[in-house]
Amino acid sequence: MKPGSRLPRVGYCLLAMLASSCIGRSVPVESPAAAPLGEVHPLREAAAAAHRHIGAALMSRYLNDVSLGTVVATHFDSLTPENEMKWQATEPRPGEFTLVAGDKLVAFAQEHDMRVRGHTLVWHQQLAPWVTGLTGEALREAMKRHIRRLAGHWRGRIGQWDVVNEALADDGHGLRDSPFLSLGENYLDEAFRAAHAADPEAQLFYNDYEIEAGKGNPKSDAAYRLVKRMKDAGVPIHGIGMQMHVDPRHWPSAEQIRRNVERFVALGLVVEFTEMDVPVGQLRGPLVEKLRQQRTIAHDIVAACLGVEGCTGITLWGVSDRNSWLASPVWARLRGQGPHFPLAFDAELRPKPMFFGIADAFAGR
Ligand code: G3I
Repeated sequence: MKPGSRLPRVGYCLLAMLASSCIGRSVPVESPAAAPLGEVHPLREAAAAAHRHIGAALMSRYLNDVSLGTVVATHFDSLTPENEMKWQATEPRPGEFTLVAGDKLVAFAQEHDMRVRGHTLVWHQQLAPWVTGLTGEALREAMKRHIRRLAGHWRGRIGQWDVVNEALADDGHGLRDSPFLSLGENYLDEAFRAAHAADPEAQLFYNDYEIEAGKGNPKSDAAYRLVKRMKDAGVPIHGIGMQMHVDPRHWPSAEQIRRNVERFVALGLVVEFTEMDVPVGQLRGPLVEKLRQQRTIAHDIVAACLGVEGCTGITLWGVSDRNSWLASPVWARLRGQGPHFPLAFDAELRPKPMFFGIADAFAGR
């Protein structure tokens, strides 16, 4: 199905009937779908009308599922490779590049008129083990070669690169200890310069989590100081990615998020929400109530982005609850007791209340 076409009419459940019964099929607890009767309009059209991108992270193997590919092409105009462009996947041995899985995602995106957010060139996780053994000039050269090769290979086909990911310490005190820090605090500057030289058209981003809260929050302030220093130094940085992995146990208000976006935009950067998901495991009440709260949180995050012109897009970290990273027990516990049902489509690819919350926000409702 091409973007712009509509999903077929299905026997959707009425939201109000979620807990008890629904039209045409029963809804097990594991599959919290809820959509009003009627046609589901492509999210990407709603986003485009609001002059924003709406994206999803995807692993290339998920494209073997034709139904999932159809949902992605119908509803999203931006795609982030979930793991395929990380160092471990792309340069497992020195100078040996494996870019086929990334190519597959880029080709899918081109076929369906989607932008690609490249993720990510320099990150301390999912790093090829051989890199951690390097120091000094050998590490510097390895980092620059890696960046040159990837950004050069996909030159002109990647709209935005997360050049450096999660470099800040969790407590906001400077940069985290990582193999790259041995190059000195300005390793980010070198990474961004190398990326810009390899693909001068791509928008280059610094991307991190828990920097959403704004002034007074140590990590948010550390991110602000970091990118301001880089801008002031003339480093080619164009944007900041706020991941938006919501932890409902402690989460800033929509107004706090909006004000935070504003201060980064005032630096001359664009802002994108790059990895949004809203796990409900720790919310209170019956599932129908948790999904209602999830809808509200997702709606408000999108509305916060729409409140600032320089906020140009929102990406969900996955498509369906079935293949979210939070469906894995290893990761789920980061957000407390699951199941988390963190995304906009349920395990059977039916749109959830969260989907309609996002659509409503784009429509200004
Ligand atoms: O590919 C191997 C496979 O060969 C092996 O059999 C299997 C067994 O566990 O593991 C597979 O690797 C997994 C990989 O995802 C690909 O599926 C890793 O175990 C697993 O840890 C890895 O998780 C990824 C995680 O980053 C790693 O930190 C998640 O899928 C991915 O969603 C997540 O994404 C990150 C962003 O890149 C940065 N921001 C946070 C976000 C969530 O953690």
